[in-house]
Amino acid sequence: MPDKLTRFGISMEESLLEKFDSVISGMGYANRSEAIRDLIREAILQQNWSDEHEVVAGSILLFYDHHRNNLVEEMLIIQHDFLDNVLATTHFHVDQHNCLEIIAVRGKAGKLKELSDRLKALKGVFFGKLTVAPLSK
Ligand code: NI
Repeated sequence: MPDKLTRFGISMEESLLEKFDSVISGMGYANRSEAIRDLIREAILQQNWSDEHEVVAGSILLFYDHHRNNLVEEMLIIQHDFLDNVLATTHFHVDQHNCLEIIAVRGKAGKLKELSDRLKALKGVFFGKLTVAPLSK
């Protein structure tokens, strides 16, 4: 059964609302309601990072120098420690030194954060970002 929709009012500065309208129209939102719903979902998701019961799916994006000592091997060892969470890995050779890797993941939010943090902390990883979506609405 679909959730019943509830209406509520929001007060804010006119200039802030104008900026918001401009940003969301650039993002392709047809109206404020859907944009605000997405912001609220994102806020709840971020809040649930530490919740061991929230099951999510997403990806970890890593940019790194594969010449760094043992880096690739250490990345593999860590991923093998998270067998139940790593679904697949795609590797792109960016240039002679640098690689981009996308790891598809699924599991409890806290566990995925732990995996992402361990990979990002490795020497030679210049950029890392975990992006997830909730598996329930
Ligand atoms: Ni490569």
